[in-house]
Amino acid sequence: MRTRITEMLGIEHPVVQGGMQWVGLAELASAVSNAGGLGILTGLTQPTPDDLLKEIERCREMTDKPFGVNLTILPTIKPVPYEEYAQAIVDSGIKIVETAGRNPEPFLPLFKGAGITVIHKCTSIRHSLKAEKIGCDMVSVDGFECAGHPGEDDVTNMILLPIAARRLKIPFLASGGLGDGRGLAAALAMGADGINMGTRFMVTKEAPIHEKVKQAMVEASELDTSLIYRTLRNTARVFKNSIAEQVIEIENQPGDTKFEDIQPLVAGAKGKDLFDTGELDKGIWSAGMVVGLIDDIPTVEELVTRIVTEAEEIINERLGYAVSA
Ligand SMILES: Cc1cc2nc3c(=O)[nH]c(=O)nc-3n(C[C@H](O)[C@H](O)[C@H](O)COP(=O)(O)O)c2cc1C
Repeated sequence: MRTRITEMLGIEHPVVQGGMQWVGLAELASAVSNAGGLGILTGLTQPTPDDLLKEIERCREMTDKPFGVNLTILPTIKPVPYEEYAQAIVDSGIKIVETAGRNPEPFLPLFKGAGITVIHKCTSIRHSLKAEKIGCDMVSVDGFECAGHPGEDDVTNMILLPIAARRLKIPFLASGGLGDGRGLAAALAMGADGINMGTRFMVTKEAPIHEKVKQAMVEASELDTSLIYRTLRNTARVFKNSIAEQVIEIENQPGDTKFEDIQPLVAGAKGKDLFDTGELDKGIWSAGMVVGLIDDIPTVEELVTRIVTEAEEIINERLGYAVSA
């Protein structure tokens, strides 16, 4: 398949793996790039900018194909030296960055000066237009279905993508709810230049998380995600487990929710522990509604090939037949 995004990123298939806290390590990112998509290392999963430089080196040993780094600019419990991470990315010679969270404008002179292609992930049309205006090269449009932070507008990709196609000049990826060839074909039909997936890539052999977490996602249906932090206007879509339910219970109590009341349940270290041990009620983890479409644990190569082959068949055969009369 050839789209503006495969050409700009120098990749074979229009399939990108979005940054994922604790999951976006070299094992997964290199596997996605080796399969012809674009793998992305998650910058802040590395404890220091120096560790990020080492992880980039490790990834380079595992693939000679292009891969990127995600820089997520969000409120965090501990302050993060974002400028130092951004500088490490530039120093490493990485040429593709996925930004997410707050407006990436302060980092653009540094990135653009180093010839980096910037993909900004946004959950609304107004933020996508803003990203285009400030000079981002492409956007990832993250619909309400997505894992992680879907924003507060609650607009799904059926609406976001066609509006993005009408209003954006820069290329865009459809993100959120994508997991199979039907999704890829539909995203292209709606005007996107490719897809960005998180949850689906978590459930692959190479994803560096415990088998039990993957198995829970195979067994889950489309109803098995929860929206937490709604009362804090920092909504997150996570896997529905007892901890997510406790968080919602606290949020539903009368009066303002205080983050201190929730913090012990949702601490990042507990999420990491959950991924390492497979103890599913240890903390929370991001997961999207697409868990309803996941029913196996393939290798990344099998997954990417399957998605692209299925999409090509749909476009050539089913859709071709529909217009052939
Ligand atoms: C476990 C997990 C962790 C994530 N962490 C991040 C993150 O640190 N930064 C970020 O920009 N997006 C993060 N995301 C969002 C993904 O990059 C992507 O936008 C999203 O998963 C797309 O929706 P999907 O899961 O339906 O494919 C995360 C997603 C998952 C599943």
